[in-house]
Amino acid sequence: MRAVRYHDHGSADVLQVDEVDRPTPERDEVLVEIRAASVNRVDVMFRAGQYGDLPLPTIPGGDGAGLVAEVGADVEEFEPGDSVFISGMDRATGGTFAEYAAVPVAKIAHLPDDVAWTVGAAIGNVGATAWTALEELAGIQAGDRVLIHGGSGGVGHIAVQIAAHSGAEVIATAGTEAARSQLRDLGATAALDYNSDSLAEEILAATDGAGVETILDHRLEEYLDLDLEVVTEGGQIISTMGHIPETNGRPFYNKEVTIQPLKMDNWPDRRPVLDRLARLLEQDAVTAVVAETYAFENTDALTRRSSLAALSGNSS
Ligand SMILES: NC(=O)c1ccc[n+]([C@@H]2O[C@H](COP(=O)([O-])OP(=O)(O)OC[C@H]3O[C@@H](n4cnc5c(N)ncnc54)[C@H](OP(=O)(O)O)[C@@H]3O)[C@@H](O)[C@H]2O)c1
Repeated sequence: MRAVRYHDHGSADVLQVDEVDRPTPERDEVLVEIRAASVNRVDVMFRAGQYGDLPLPTIPGGDGAGLVAEVGADVEEFEPGDSVFISGMDRATGGTFAEYAAVPVAKIAHLPDDVAWTVGAAIGNVGATAWTALEELAGIQAGDRVLIHGGSGGVGHIAVQIAAHSGAEVIATAGTEAARSQLRDLGATAALDYNSDSLAEEILAATDGAGVETILDHRLEEYLDLDLEVVTEGGQIISTMGHIPETNGRPFYNKEVTIQPLKMDNWPDRRPVLDRLARLLEQDAVTAVVAETYAFENTDALTRRSSLAALSGNSS
């Protein structure tokens, strides 16, 4: 089969299409004929050698979507011909940027009818992160006010939709007017420019001065002071990236604010969250906005894109 691989870490030009053996599924795995795979920021960090060593050469890609071609001896939930989507593949054992991938059953779920392969491929990691942050950790409720930094990103735009679907009031930030307009279409009550000098005031104004109960933050070092200004008493900050900065002298005690780090590597069983995302896709409550797609051979185009880029596999 053909697979995109890299033999050394580096920029996108280390990616090449190789002929490799088709994997054989283990007892608890299914073999998936990959129709689309997505490019997440973490794939790029691994490729660049910024996120730990991998055995080389390696097939990248944590997420994808396709058709079940074969099932391992212990697999009961899937059968050949099922449409599935994948998230959280172990990068040390081979990824989704290939014509076939052997996928543990804990990393897949059924993809609802009429959902595009590219959407199925793009939603896994970012959707799992957004769901785990907002529903599992923050436990957002209808009527809550939620601030989502970087709402235009892969995680952010799914988080906006999940929070809006839960009945929360969503304030999101983005760098361009086009992205802010799209965020309003996806359910944000207010979409603000993260470059604004008066961002904190604008967030407070958007909530009639009340502030927000929950914040999803991917740049904590940069935003902690702003977060503490706009969060309500007893509020919470879910942090997906960055060290937790020095807290001395900051008003944690006054407001009794909680900071909760989230690392998806600690949530290896993706099936429950993928099943939740499948229901949301089925209800048209959530979608992944795919910015660009690339043909399988066009690996040199896979520079650092947002999570919304997808690599289309056998369909091209
Ligand atoms: N902890 C975990 O397990 C986990 C899981 C998934 C992701 N992550 C991390 O979460 C972050 C987001 O991931 P992603 O896949 O959504 O990345 P992404 O698609 O590249 O999105 C990045 C977002 O950051 C925004 N941004 C850029 N500069 C900013 C600034 N100065 N202030 C505020 N926002 C800014 C971008 O806005 P514009 O595009 O509008 O400029 C965009 O919305 C990444 O750092 C990723 O590594 C962590």
